[in-house]
Amino acid sequence: MDRLKEKTAVITGAGSGIGRAAAVLMGREGARIVVADYDTAAAEETAALVEKAGGQALPATVDVTDEGSIADMIAATVREFGGVNVLCNHVGGTNPRTDLDVLRMDMEEFQRGIARNVTSTLLGTRHALPHMLRAGGGSIINTASVAALVGDVLQTAYGAVKAAVVSITKSTAVQYGPHNVRCNAIAPGAVLTPALENNLPESVVEDLKKGNALPYLGSPEDIGHTMVFLASEESRYLTGQLLVVDGGMTMQSSAAPGRRAQLPA
Ligand SMILES: NC(=O)c1ccc[n+]([C@@H]2O[C@H](COP(=O)([O-])OP(=O)(O)OC[C@H]3O[C@@H](n4cnc5c(N)ncnc54)[C@H](O)[C@@H]3O)[C@@H](O)[C@H]2O)c1
Repeated sequence: MDRLKEKTAVITGAGSGIGRAAAVLMGREGARIVVADYDTAAAEETAALVEKAGGQALPATVDVTDEGSIADMIAATVREFGGVNVLCNHVGGTNPRTDLDVLRMDMEEFQRGIARNVTSTLLGTRHALPHMLRAGGGSIINTASVAALVGDVLQTAYGAVKAAVVSITKSTAVQYGPHNVRCNAIAPGAVLTPALENNLPESVVEDLKKGNALPYLGSPEDIGHTMVFLASEESRYLTGQLLVVDGGMTMQSSAAPGRRAQLPA
C-alpha cells in the first residue's frame, strides 16, 4: 500500500488509458499525483479516481508539445507538492491514418510525431531534472512501444520516434545516474485503451491476440503495475533499461501461432 509514500509523481497523458491506470495505481501506493493532460475534464476525472482510491491528486492542463506548458506543469507541481520524485513522460503516438509507409508518409505527421513523442520526452526531463538533482535522485519513466523494436508495414514515424525515446532514456540514465536519477522506458505491446480500440479494426485486434504468447491482450493496469515498480525503490538498481510488457508478442516466433494450431489435442 505504501510503496510510493512521500513521493510526488507527474504523469503526462494521465487523462485516459495507460496513464490513467498508472495514476490510480501510484495514488493507491501513497504517491501524490499530478495528473497532466491537455484534456482538462479528463485530467479532473482521473484526479477524482485517484482520490477515490485513497491518493492525493492535482489535475494539470498541459500540452506536452509546448515547452512553456511543460515548464508551468513542473512549476505547479513544485508549488503544490514541494518537488518531483517521479516523472512519467507518457504522452505519445501518431495518427495511423497519416503515418503511413515511407513513400506515402505525411511529412507534417512525421514532424508532429517527433514533437509529441521525442521533444516532449526531452523537455519534460529537462524541466524535472533540476528538482530531482536537488532532492538527491528520482525516477524517470518514458513510454516507448514494441514499435521501437520491430518493423511494420505502416506507422513508420511511430517506430522511429519510439526508438528515439529509447535512446533518450539511455542517455539520461548515463548522464544523471551518478546523481541517483534513474531513467527507464517501457515498451507496451497491444493494450486495450481507447487509442487502440478506436483506431484498429476488429480483424487486426484478433491478429494481435494470435501474435501474443499469452492468450489475451494487455489491460492499462498491466502496464500501470510495471510503472509503479519503476517508480518505487524496488527497482533502485535498474536504470537505462527498456522493459517490454507485451504478452510475449515480440519474443514469439512468427511460426508459433500456426504450429500451435497443429499441436495434437
Ligand atoms: N495502447 C497501446 O496499445 C499502446 C502500445 C504501446 C505504446 N503505447 C503508448 O502509451 C501511451 C499512451 O497510450 P494510450 O493508449 O494510453 O493513449 P490514450 O489515447 O488512451 O491516452 C492518451 C492521453 O494523452 C492525452 N494527450 C494527447 N496528446 C497530448 C498532448 N499534446 N499534451 C497532453 N496530453 C495529451 C490525451 O488527451 C489522452 O488523455 C502513448 O505514448 C502510446 O504511444 C500504447
